[in-house]
Amino acid sequence: MTKFDPDEQAVPRSVAVIMDGNGRWAKRAGFERIRGHEKGIDAVRTTVTECARLGVEALVLYAFSEENWARPKREVEMLFRLLKRFLVEERDTLMDNNVQLLHSGRRERLAPDVLALLDETVAMTAGNTGMKLSLAISYGARQELVDAVQALARQVAAGELPPGAIDEDAISAALYQPSLPDPDILIRTAGEMRLSNFLLWQISYAELHVSDVCWPEFGAEQLHDAFRAYGRRVRSFGKVL
Ligand code: FPP
Repeated sequence: MTKFDPDEQAVPRSVAVIMDGNGRWAKRAGFERIRGHEKGIDAVRTTVTECARLGVEALVLYAFSEENWARPKREVEMLFRLLKRFLVEERDTLMDNNVQLLHSGRRERLAPDVLALLDETVAMTAGNTGMKLSLAISYGARQELVDAVQALARQVAAGELPPGAIDEDAISAALYQPSLPDPDILIRTAGEMRLSNFLLWQISYAELHVSDVCWPEFGAEQLHDAFRAYGRRVRSFGKVL
């Protein structure tokens, strides 16, 4: 494993990841797609523990998009089976690493047993003071903005909010997880140069890093590469430096 010295390299405060390529990895290895998702859980564990160790404040992982509901029923079922397993089996990892679990996404389409395990793990880790880990499940950025606009419109209709008070901070505060800082870096695996409806409001000034490896092969070394690349970026936020 390559050495990574956080004193030398910038560790981003907030990290977002589009975990792509599970299916391609499985196909190449001669397995069913689900084996790729299974192996993907090991990569999730590595990234979570390594980000926590390095002092990342917030990590958002795109685990299941709104669009993913259109996948074959069997794959959706298998993904949620894995997700439920993760929510139980990784509790020790979350507790040992002082990680607080959160959920970003719509709850409506999630099955009661998924919601129960999600809520239990969120509650169990609520007192953890280290890294915040938000799993984006049944998540879409446009849907998040629709939900935020509706919430703000309800406050306006109730006379609680003057329309002129809707500013950038008010919109950020109406998103699913307002306590999360905007991502400094968005990592995508498997080489695709797409945003795929992920955190569109929050990534306005995120640095993009695309890794060629598929998610099941994304380990600490690849995470360090991403952070090194991030450390070399000059972030001007639109200003002249
Ligand atoms: C993209 O690969 C990945 C997903 C749609 C799901 C991500 C899920 C995991 C990493 C495992 C479960 C996660 C947690 C947090 C328990 P793809 O299937 O789109 O790959 P492909 O583009 O190669 O077909």
